[in-house]
Amino acid sequence: MKPELVVIRRLAPETTMQRLAAEYELHALWDAEDIPAFLDRARGARGLVTTGNVGAEAALIEALPNLEIIANFGVGVDRVDFEAVNRRGIIVTVTAGVLTDAVADLALALWLAVLRRVAEADRFVRAGRWPEAAFPSGRGARGRTAGILGLGQIGRAVAQRLSGFGVEIAYSDIAAIPDLPYRFVSDPVALAGECDFLIVCAAGGPGTAKLVNAEVLTALGRDGILVNVARGSIVDEDALIAALEAGHIAGAGLDVFADEPNVPEALMAMDNVVLMPHQASNTVETRIAMGENVLANLAAHFAGQPVATPYRQG
Ligand code: 8YV
Repeated sequence: MKPELVVIRRLAPETTMQRLAAEYELHALWDAEDIPAFLDRARGARGLVTTGNVGAEAALIEALPNLEIIANFGVGVDRVDFEAVNRRGIIVTVTAGVLTDAVADLALALWLAVLRRVAEADRFVRAGRWPEAAFPSGRGARGRTAGILGLGQIGRAVAQRLSGFGVEIAYSDIAAIPDLPYRFVSDPVALAGECDFLIVCAAGGPGTAKLVNAEVLTALGRDGILVNVARGSIVDEDALIAALEAGHIAGAGLDVFADEPNVPEALMAMDNVVLMPHQASNTVETRIAMGENVLANLAAHFAGQPVATPYRQG
């Protein structure tokens, strides 16, 4: 008998979906019209495949009495209810390692796009304005300082890339990380005060909620740029809109939002803001590797072996 799995969303790599369907008996939550009837049918599920931005809420975990493993197609687990998980000793796995480069690359893309006004310039050319007007100057990178909020794997990959642009690196984290050539600044307001670019790479969740608030944004300053490739919850979005409207910061590059997929109209109206629909890990190669990771963790677990990339609760 194939183990039963609940899958929250159709995952992008078709090969992942095909292999999941071949190796497991799938219950597709995205197809369910009547949720109570679906949960009744899925009671036998021993595994749940979810995504970083959906997670697994307590009600779902509790509705699946046979659940043993939650395989997350992503690294962020801020939407997984760990009280419910821990009550039942459920294993949670994440796609650790495989999406680091893709997310770091997008952080740099957003940063450069804001710094050099790429999206704004694209709109300018398409609107046929080039023959009539001069496009305003962007800003240079060399010699300026980036503050990285959260120096985990992704934060470090961002730091490495930025170093190649001649950018100095400072960072905030729970504690200083030994043996790194970057300056540790424990307080986010002080970090923002010391840097020109604030790049948010921290994990989401209650510990980081609205960490980037009005005070941090004011400290970042009128030439400052905010980039967020982590979680929308880490930035106070109202404070961000107010800071952009008042010119307290120069611009923002955002892949994540407080209430995805809804993006505030105010942000959409701003030329100095570059918006992405939560795409940082979305490259063909990375999504295939994420799918492989989910399949490998599930296979190990159902073969009675330890999973390769468990989420380790701190
Ligand atoms: C994905 C993510 O976009 O890793 C995460 O936590 O948010 C992203 O990699 C997401 O899991 C797919 O929906």
